[in-house]
Amino acid sequence: MSKEYRWGIIGAGHIAGSFAKGLKVLPNARCYAIASRDGEKAASFAAEYGFEKSYDSYQAMLQDPQVDIVYVATPNNLHYTHTMMALDAGKHVLCEKPFAITCSQAMTMMRVSREKNLFLMEALWSRFLPSMITASRLLGEGVVGKPLLLQAEFGIHPVYDENSRLFDPKLGGGSIADIGIYPIFLALFLFGDPLSMDVSSIPAPTGVDMTTTIVMTHREGRMSVLTSSFAFDMESDAKITGDAGRLRLCRMFHTPTKLMLRRDVEEKETEIPVEMVGNGYNYEAAEVMRCIDEGMIESDIWNHSQTLRLLDIVERATKDAFLNL
Ligand SMILES: NC(=O)c1ccc[n+]([C@@H]2O[C@H](COP(=O)([O-])OP(=O)(O)OC[C@H]3O[C@@H](n4cnc5c(N)ncnc54)[C@H](OP(=O)(O)O)[C@@H]3O)[C@@H](O)[C@H]2O)c1
Repeated sequence: MSKEYRWGIIGAGHIAGSFAKGLKVLPNARCYAIASRDGEKAASFAAEYGFEKSYDSYQAMLQDPQVDIVYVATPNNLHYTHTMMALDAGKHVLCEKPFAITCSQAMTMMRVSREKNLFLMEALWSRFLPSMITASRLLGEGVVGKPLLLQAEFGIHPVYDENSRLFDPKLGGGSIADIGIYPIFLALFLFGDPLSMDVSSIPAPTGVDMTTTIVMTHREGRMSVLTSSFAFDMESDAKITGDAGRLRLCRMFHTPTKLMLRRDVEEKETEIPVEMVGNGYNYEAAEVMRCIDEGMIESDIWNHSQTLRLLDIVERATKDAFLNL
C-alpha cells in the first residue's frame, strides 16, 4: 500500500488546474498546497480545487516541510529555476514539458536530483496514457505489418499576443518547444533516435517559430513527418502506416484518445477499445508516487536519458528553425 503524498504546485495557471483534477482520482495523492505570485489567485485556486494551503510566493511554499512533491507548472523558461529551487528545498519534483530550454540546464537539474537523492521527472504525460501504451503494444504485435511512416501533427490557433508565453521568446515560446514536442516524442518513442533531421519553419512576428515541419529518417527505412503550428487549428492526430495497414491516434493524439485500425485486407477502420480513468494527468502523477514508493530517483518508463534525447531534438530543431530563416 502506497503512502500518501502531499503535492504542492508552483504556478496557478491553466495546466495547474488540469493537473489538480488529475490528482483527485488518486487515493494516495493529497492536494495540499498551491503557490502563486499573487496571494488572491492562490487562494481562489485552492478553493476551486480543494487545496489545503495557498501561498503568495513560491519560496514560501517550498519552506513548508509538509510538501512532499512539487509540480512545476510555470512557463518553459522558468522550469530550470523553479525545479532547482524545489530540489534545493529538499522536494521531489515533477516538471512540465519541455523539461528545460537547454540540455545543459537539464543535465544540471538531473545532477542535483542525484546528489540530493530526490525524484525528478519531466511531465511528459502522453508517455503514460493508456491510448499511447496500447498503440505501442499493437504496433509491436505487427497489426500494421512493419511500421514505416509516422505522420503526426499538433496545430492550434491561439489569438496572437506577443506577450503570451506561446509567442514571447523570453518565456521560451515557439511551436516546437510547446506543442511540437509531442510529435517529436512520438517519433522517438515508436521509431527511436533519428538518423537525419530536416527542419523547415515559418517565424511568428516575435521571432519564435510559428509553424514547423520536421522530417526525420530512422533505422530500418522508417520516416517521420512532424508538424506543429500556432497559425491554424489542425486535426492534431497521428497516423502510423505500415506495409500491411495503418493505425490512427485520433485528435488530439497526445491526450487520452481513440485508436482506429485499418488493415490493408479490410474494408473499413475499426476502433480499438482503450480503458481510461481520470483526465489523463493522473497517470504521470501515479508514476511519480510509484517510483518514490520504490526508492527510485528517476522513472524507468520516462527516464532522464529519454528526456535528454527529446530535449536535444527540441533544442536542435529550434536552432535549425532560426538558421533557416
Ligand atoms: N502537459 C500538458 O498537457 C500541458 C498543457 C499546457 C501547458 N503545459 C506546460 O505547462 C507550463 C505552463 O503552461 P500553462 O498553459 O499552464 O501556462 P499559464 O496558464 O500561463 O500558467 C503559467 C503560470 O506560471 C506562472 N508564472 C510565473 N512566472 C511567470 C511569468 N513571468 N509569466 C507568466 N507566468 C508566470 C503564473 O502563475 P502565478 O501567476 O500563479 O504565479 C502562470 O499562471 C508550460 O511549460 C507548458 O509547456 C503542459
